[in-house]
Amino acid sequence: MTPIALGVLASGRGSNLQALIEAAHSGRLGGEIVAVVSNVEDAPALQRARGIPAVVIPSRGLDREVYDRMLIDEIRKHRSDLVCLAGFMRLLGAEFVAAYRNRIMNIHPALLPAFPGLHVQRKAVDYGVKVSGCTVHFVDEGTDTGPIIIQAAVPVYDDDTEETLAARILRHEHRIYPQAIRLFAEGRLQVQGRRVICWGAPTAGEAPPVALVNP
Ligand code: GRF
Repeated sequence: MTPIALGVLASGRGSNLQALIEAAHSGRLGGEIVAVVSNVEDAPALQRARGIPAVVIPSRGLDREVYDRMLIDEIRKHRSDLVCLAGFMRLLGAEFVAAYRNRIMNIHPALLPAFPGLHVQRKAVDYGVKVSGCTVHFVDEGTDTGPIIIQAAVPVYDDDTEETLAARILRHEHRIYPQAIRLFAEGRLQVQGRRVICWGAPTAGEAPPVALVNP
């Protein structure tokens, strides 16, 4: 496996970025983070990027095409093989997606295609689903619609709040995001239309009969 170069885009807290940094340090990521880019000047994520080039490109007032081009230029400068969105609160435009087709990943705190968009842990609690989770997917032109790479499911309990559910899901985000990146680095992911085939993953014939049942 040749280690890949990763550009991470983050706008906020940066706990997923932290998980990626730790995975890289311990050799679990299959690559190295070469740049952290934020659209928010005082994003806490930037503080976590110690030793990694961290760049702020403010997005306020810029239209999507112009901003996209600035992002592409920055990412190219660092020669990233893969772009990882980690709480990046701006939609990428068609130009960016086309420039990095099937080379942009996002982590989303719900089991897509259920609950795309924002505040999805609250939506899951309000809807009354018994199981939710998180999804790592490739980014396409839509909002949280790209091909799904990996998902983790968690129970949703009767006394859950948005916060308790978000915390339960977040632990698994930190686990599956590095895993997805490693699969990519190992060349084990192949996009076939909407589906991502993962070489070496359990198949229907051999997988154990697991199910998450709640209650
Ligand atoms: C995470 O819940 C992620 O799934 C979503 O935005 C949040 C970012 O959190 N896309 P953090 O900044 O990584 O802590």
